[in-house]
Amino acid sequence: MKLILIAAIGKHNQLGLNGDMPWKRSLSQDLQFFSKTTRNHAMVMGRKTFESLPGLLPGREHLVITTSQMEKQPHLHLYPSLEAFFEDWKESDQTVYVIGGGSIYKQFLPYADELILTEIDQDFDADTWFPAFNSNLYSREILDTVDENGYQYHHVCYRRKLEPDLSTR
Ligand SMILES: NC(=O)c1ccc[n+]([C@@H]2O[C@H](COP(=O)([O-])OP(=O)(O)OC[C@H]3O[C@@H](n4cnc5c(N)ncnc54)[C@H](OP(=O)(O)O)[C@@H]3O)[C@@H](O)[C@H]2O)c1
Repeated sequence: MKLILIAAIGKHNQLGLNGDMPWKRSLSQDLQFFSKTTRNHAMVMGRKTFESLPGLLPGREHLVITTSQMEKQPHLHLYPSLEAFFEDWKESDQTVYVIGGGSIYKQFLPYADELILTEIDQDFDADTWFPAFNSNLYSREILDTVDENGYQYHHVCYRRKLEPDLSTR
């Protein structure tokens, strides 16, 4: 499995506010970028992030880490722990995108091959943050720069220089 964290963050790693993103839905080009990047791949997420989605996103398996019960649906798979998720997926040859939120990024960060971050050049009020990470462990490539609705942001790919160790899972 290749594990990629994908997130949009403010200047100080802000991720979320009141169950939504601090910039709400004003970055439609970024949502398109997210949609195009994750389409036809599995996405792993926390229960709160799952509940913040408008519904199941087409063309993607939704892997939700939760201790809660949820109604069964096609393309929705529940895992009661990270261990249960890794048990099923660590031998897979697929790419899995980690799509949040804060608690899930923090737990998956040590196992990520890549981070794809939308770095927004602005401060926001927040109650959820992307975890601090050691940028020396990664090479950094700016993929593009976008100006939208008064915000400037870069899509940036951080690739791990040394492969993460999944054997501890
Ligand atoms: N800016 C971005 O790119 C971005 C992306 C995603 C989310 N967000 C924002 O982030 C916020 C949500 O993040 P969050 O950290 O509050 O919540 P979250 O990570 O989405 O979900 C937390 C929930 O996941 C489950 N969970 C987490 N770790 C677990 C484990 N080890 N074992 C079992 N279950 C586990 C628990 O669900 P149960 O309580 O059901 O057990 C927990 O309450 C929202 O504001 C959202 O809009 C932003």
